Amino acid sequence: MKSKVLAGIALLGAMTLAATACSSGAGGGSGEGGDDTITVGFAQTGSESGWRSANTESMKAAFSEDDGFELIFNAADNDPAAQISAVRDFISRGVDAIVIAPIVEDGWDDVLQEASDAGIPVILEDRTVTASEDLYAAWVGLDFTKEGVMAGEWAAETFGDTPTRMVVLEGTTGSAPANDRAEGFAQAIEGTGIETIDSQTGDFTRDGGKTVMEGFIQKYGIDGIDLLYAHNDDMALGAIEAIEAAGGVPGEDIQIVSIDAVKDGMQALVDGKINYIVECNPLLGDLAAGLVRDVLAGEDVEKTHFVEDQTFTQEQAAEVIDSRPY
Ligand code: AHR
Repeated sequence: MKSKVLAGIALLGAMTLAATACSSGAGGGSGEGGDDTITVGFAQTGSESGWRSANTESMKAAFSEDDGFELIFNAADNDPAAQISAVRDFISRGVDAIVIAPIVEDGWDDVLQEASDAGIPVILEDRTVTASEDLYAAWVGLDFTKEGVMAGEWAAETFGDTPTRMVVLEGTTGSAPANDRAEGFAQAIEGTGIETIDSQTGDFTRDGGKTVMEGFIQKYGIDGIDLLYAHNDDMALGAIEAIEAAGGVPGEDIQIVSIDAVKDGMQALVDGKINYIVECNPLLGDLAAGLVRDVLAGEDVEKTHFVEDQTFTQEQAAEVIDSRPY
């Protein structure tokens, strides 16, 4: 479904683009807000991670009353059925537009068709779906496969042909980032000495990462694991707690690569407890709001909008940590 790459959009560029889109678009106005207010229902996944908190803040700031929006916010606590119910509720309330961060990729066809039948445009942010792209107006987010590739390239360069026992903390089962980050990483380590000895979901949460890592340590011992690939920083942070509680030194006894680059993850990188982080930029609010305005104004918008991610070594993290916005 990915038809266009906004390659090279660093954070500043992305924000500038969004600001332009916001100021040039016209509003809708047929929903609950009255007058020219654009009423938007936003179906968020939940509040599973630091990344999610930053994404929610970005969305709430961009869809503010001052900017002409009434935002109806729903966080589904990582429950796909609850998220679909929230979208049905937005449809029955007759909102002007719906924005969704889909928890999982599958199962969206019916409710997206219902929104389409009701004439309500849907914009996806962050995660993708397997439903036909005819059923939504646009998507904005990150290239999760590329994030996995970048994490895997670091692992391949670091361990090369050396026999390496890796455990994986997967994100939410069935979610686009869990699927794509696994695929990208696997591509990048092909032909190296890295062997996946275990892989389980920690559901993108700190507690989940800690519990699953405790199980890995019990099964293989600290000495039986060389590398941890965590699909997000929160799970890596939970795993660090488990490694330290078992008397191990995270970042040394077990090297760790993770994805997100949220504040706590970057601090752990600076402290030497994580070895490498691939960014996943959560500041998608302005771009999503710009797309809502443009779609409601009847403009032709590109279906797919990628925001570029960066990577950080421990040294690079130390240089930028104080200036990071999340
Ligand atoms: O969809 C983005 C992912 O969702 C982030 O990497 C993770 O932290 C969040 O829960």
